[in-house]
Amino acid sequence: MSPLPQILRDQLAASPAGRLPFAQVMELALYHPEHGYYGAGPRRIGRKGDFFTSVSVGPLFGKLLAMRALQEWQAQAEPEDFTIIEQGAHDGQLAEDVLSALGGKSLRYLIVEPNPKYREVQTKRLGDRVQWAENLAALQTGPAHGFFLCNELPDAFPVHLVRWNGERWEELFVEADSCAAFRFVAGEFSCAELAEEAKHLPQDLEPGHTLEINLTMLAWIRELAHAAFRGAIFIADYGLDAEEFFTDSRAEGTIRRYRQHHMDGNVLEDLGECDLTTHINFTRLTAEAERLSLTKGEYDLQGRVLGRLAMPWLKSLEGQRLDAATMRQFQSLTHPAFMGRSFRCLLVKKQPHDDCRA
Ligand SMILES: C[S@@+](CC[C@H](N)C(=O)[O-])C[C@H]1O[C@@H](n2cnc3c(N)ncnc32)[C@H](O)[C@@H]1O
Repeated sequence: MSPLPQILRDQLAASPAGRLPFAQVMELALYHPEHGYYGAGPRRIGRKGDFFTSVSVGPLFGKLLAMRALQEWQAQAEPEDFTIIEQGAHDGQLAEDVLSALGGKSLRYLIVEPNPKYREVQTKRLGDRVQWAENLAALQTGPAHGFFLCNELPDAFPVHLVRWNGERWEELFVEADSCAAFRFVAGEFSCAELAEEAKHLPQDLEPGHTLEINLTMLAWIRELAHAAFRGAIFIADYGLDAEEFFTDSRAEGTIRRYRQHHMDGNVLEDLGECDLTTHINFTRLTAEAERLSLTKGEYDLQGRVLGRLAMPWLKSLEGQRLDAATMRQFQSLTHPAFMGRSFRCLLVKKQPHDDCRA
C-alpha cells in the first residue's frame, strides 16, 4: 500500500487549519518524488497501464506531428537552430516517433524534463538524439526558432476546486475525518489569484456546482510566452470551452481518477496509485495566451486537426491502401467515438519574447 495517505495525514495535522487546498493534495498524489503517481518515475501507458494516450495508440500520432513541425520549419525559412521542443515527454515514446518520422531532416529535439528519473529513461531510449532542459525558464536564452508540442500535459497539472454555494464561490479543501478518511470541506479562497479567477465565473448555477481552476496552466503558458523562440505551440489534450463546464451534466466538475482503465470521481482514495486528471479550459488558456500577445491559430477537435494534417500524405499514397495497423491508429486518433472528439488541439503562434507582454 502507498504511504501517501499517511504522508497527507501528517501534513494535514501539521497545517494550521487541519486542511489543505485540493491543489496541494493533487500535487502530492501525482508528484511526490518517491510515492507520487508520476513523481516516482514513468508508469506504463497503454493496454497494460491505467489509460491510453494518443502516443500509446502507435507511431502515427508522432508521424503527423513530425509533418506539422516540418511545415513550421519550412514556414520559418528552415533556420538552422530550429528545435522541436516537447514537455511531458514521459518515457520518450513520442520523441522517438517524431524523430523517426522526420525523413532524414535532422531537426533538433529538446525535452523539457524536471524529473531526473524520467530523464534517465528518456536517455536510455533516445541517447544523443535529443537535448534536455530542466524547466521552461531555461528556454529564455534560446533556441530562437521552434515548434513546441505537448500531449496531455496541462490535464495533469494540480488544480484548485471551487464550488458555488448558491450565494458565492468557495474553495474546496481536504481534511481528515475522525476515522482518518479524507473528505472535502468548503472555505474562503486560499490565495488572491484564485479569488480573482472566481470573480469571472457565472453566478447563476445550481448550488453545489463544482469547477476546477488550473492556475498552474496559466503560469505555464506565461512561462512559455517568455521563452525565446519564435514559432508555434501545439497543445493536444482533452478539454472544453468555458461554457461547457457550466452545464448541469458537469455539475460535479471534471476531476477524475484512472486506474487500470477504470475511471471514477473518488479522487481522495488510493492516493499515489491512480492518475488524477481534469479537462482543461481551452477558453481560459486561449484568453491568457492572447493577453500575452500569443496569437490563436487552429483550434479544433483532434479528429479534424489530424485529419487535415494527414490529407496531403494520404493523397500522396495514390490509391495504395494503408496497412491495417496504421489504419487502426488513424481511426483511434480521429474517429469521434474514440479520441477524435474528446481530444482537442490548440495551436498558438509565438513571436520572440521581446514582443510579448509581461
Ligand atoms: C498524462 S501523462 C502524458 C504522457 C505523454 N505525453 C503521452 O501523451 O503519453 C502526463 C505527463 O506529464 C508529465 N508532467 C507533468 N508536469 C510536468 C512538467 N512540469 N514538466 C514536464 N513533464 C510534466 C508527467 O510526469 C507525465 O509524464
